[in-house]
Amino acid sequence: MIHPLGVHRSARVLIPLVVLVLTVAVSTAARQADTQSGAATSGPPAVVATDQAGGFVGEATCLTCHENQAGIQRTLHGKAQNPRPPAATQGCESCHGPGKAHVDSGSKTDITRFTAMPPRDVNATCLSCHARGARVMWQGSQHDARNVSCTTCHSVHAPKSEGAQLKTASVVQTCQSCHKSEALKMQKSAHMPVREGKMDCTSCHNPHGSTGVRMLKTGNYINESCASCHAEKRGPFLWEHAGTRESCVSCHDPHGSNNDRMLVAKAPMLCQRCHVASRHVATIYDATQVANSSNRVIGRSCVNCHSQIHGSNSPSGNYFLR
Ligand code: HEC
Ligand code: HEC
Ligand code: HEC
Ligand code: HEC
Ligand code: HEC
Ligand code: HEC
Ligand code: HEC
Ligand code: HEC
Ligand code: HEC
Ligand code: HEC
Repeated sequence: MIHPLGVHRSARVLIPLVVLVLTVAVSTAARQADTQSGAATSGPPAVVATDQAGGFVGEATCLTCHENQAGIQRTLHGKAQNPRPPAATQGCESCHGPGKAHVDSGSKTDITRFTAMPPRDVNATCLSCHARGARVMWQGSQHDARNVSCTTCHSVHAPKSEGAQLKTASVVQTCQSCHKSEALKMQKSAHMPVREGKMDCTSCHNPHGSTGVRMLKTGNYINESCASCHAEKRGPFLWEHAGTRESCVSCHDPHGSNNDRMLVAKAPMLCQRCHVASRHVATIYDATQVANSSNRVIGRSCVNCHSQIHGSNSPSGNYFLR
């Protein structure tokens, strides 16, 4: 497109750019001339070793005094697959910042010390490289809001877990330090393969935050999360059970319980929290209601008969009997 003044659009961008570059070049040259105090300055600037630029001294220097931190070289931070990003070229200083002042003074106040920083500042350092993927929702997440920091769960120097550099050997142990009741419930029930190590807290939650409720990894509400693995419970059904539509956790405790199938209560009490038993058809039951002592409610109780409790696709399944 041609500008009314006859200057091509790309040229309108280019010209200021060229001017800018020239200005910078000229002013840099001027500054160099200043510092070199009138000496012959026509040659190219002295080549600075890359690891010394900007106050960086390089990992090898740090390790001369901190050899006991060499363990980090065995973690992923010491083995960047791509040789170009700062993590690969700056080593220790990609997190601790340029270390020249510290090396010169030997004082710990001249280096970034994560153990002496507010959680938000620690997180900002880590997020400078890890803000994407699973952590896009970190800011404002429940953990961020309550000042939990990356280094509450992760140890970059001495990780104990096989993956993800956690401070403890397993995910559940990491969460357990603060969420004891959920973690202990997981031990209670022989439900999902949690104790076998095939599932853990992060099968359902993203500890770095999520768009859903309760930091659930999948879906925007609880049923969507459960249905991501239990698709057959998702429906839609010809006959929906309003109780199930509402929420899986009306009846199940996602972390486990003392009852079969992780139910929050045993039937018939499970059902009777919502259904007043007296409405039940009298004839086939003891007297006018389904009493707890009825032989009809032994074992699986109400679901002896109402077996399609999550919803039914049978034309005559309106009472979830089939
Ligand atoms: C010449 C030896 C020397 C070199 C080289 C050196 N340090 Fe240190 N560093 C020390 C000493 C000594 C202390 C303890 C200072 C104190 O207690 O005041 C220290 C403390 C620290 C601390 C704080 C430890 C704490 O207990 O909180 C960090 C972090 C640190 N150094 C990182 C680095 C990094 C990163 C490098 C490389 C850029 C580096 N150091 C290079 C000598 C060195
Ligand atoms: C990925 C970021 C990262 C890198 C790379 C890194 N550190 Fe650290 N460093 C930390 C954090 C975070 C802490 C705080 C302790 C913790 O949470 O594990 C720490 C703690 C320390 C401490 C203090 C130990 C203490 O107990 O308080 C020293 C000393 C140290 N680092 C030196 C180094 C040296 C030397 C290197 C390079 C060989 C290095 N760090 C590389 C993040 C890093
Ligand atoms: C300069 C960039 C940079 C900074 C800063 C940084 N990391 Fe990393 N981190 C990396 C790279 C690169 C990897 C290796 C990733 C890979 O190869 O997939 C990595 C790997 C990890 C892993 C292991 C990932 C896995 O798949 O097991 C964890 C956990 C981690 N970083 C946590 C942290 C924490 C916590 C901090 C802050 C204390 C931090 N990182 C700071 C660049 C960085
Ligand atoms: C409440 C504990 C907790 C906090 C806080 C936390 N993480 Fe994690 N992080 C985990 C767990 C658990 C995993 C393993 C996830 C899995 O197995 O799916 C993980 C995995 C990771 C990974 C591995 C790569 C991946 O996505 O699987 C990286 C990188 C990472 N976290 C970085 C961070 C950073 C950066 C922060 C701070 C902004 C942070 N974490 C805060 C618990 C935590
Ligand atoms: C250092 C303590 C700490 C650790 C470790 C920790 N959390 Fe949390 N977690 C919190 C705090 C504080 C809250 C906010 C509670 C509140 O606001 O009532 C929270 C909230 C939550 C919530 C509820 C969110 C909501 O919407 O109510 C979930 C889910 C959660 N954490 C999962 C985890 C998982 C999974 C892990 C392990 C990977 C973990 N947490 C490790 C401190 C921790
Ligand atoms: C099968 C999926 C699943 C697993 C596995 C799981 N959770 Fe949850 N978690 C949920 C659901 C769903 C909720 C929401 C429950 C509700 O709102 O009543 C929840 C809620 C929470 C809450 C908030 C509780 C509250 O009352 O505010 C915390 C904290 C939590 N989980 C921690 C954990 C921890 C720690 C683990 C591992 C020990 C874990 N969860 C494993 C699905 C799961
Ligand atoms: C990450 C996948 C996953 C998610 C998400 C998930 N489950 Fe499961 N669930 C499983 C697996 C695997 C089993 C074991 C299946 C088997 O043994 O055949 C299971 C089994 C169950 C059982 C049967 C337990 C028993 O004693 O037989 C119930 C009930 C259950 N899940 C409810 C839920 C609820 C409610 C949610 C949502 C809060 C949920 N699940 C989310 C994977 C998942
Ligand atoms: C109204 C109460 C109620 C609600 C709500 C409910 N369930 Fe169930 N669920 C049960 C009962 C009762 C059983 C045991 C059935 C039996 O013994 O035959 C069960 C069993 C299960 C089982 C294991 C047996 C099977 O059928 O595979 C899974 C998995 C399950 N429910 C998942 C879910 C999911 C996912 C949701 C949410 C979409 C949900 N439930 C909502 C009452 C409920
Ligand atoms: C969280 C509350 C809740 C729980 C717990 C619950 N239900 Fe329901 N159920 C409902 C609601 C709401 C309806 C819809 C009632 C209506 O449409 O009038 C319903 C409908 C039904 C119907 C069909 C009734 C009709 O008139 O269409 C049956 C049968 C039923 N439930 C059986 C059960 C059984 C058996 C259990 C226990 C395993 C159970 N329900 C647990 C809330 C619940
Ligand atoms: C022996 C089988 C059987 C058992 C056990 C049973 N029901 Fe029913 N239920 C039925 C039948 C059959 C119907 C349909 C009656 C009709 O066609 O009018 C029904 C209807 C219902 C209805 C809808 C009609 C109404 O009264 O609102 C609800 C709600 C219900 N049952 C809940 C329950 C609950 C809660 C339990 C456990 C306390 C239970 N049932 C135990 C067979 C059973």
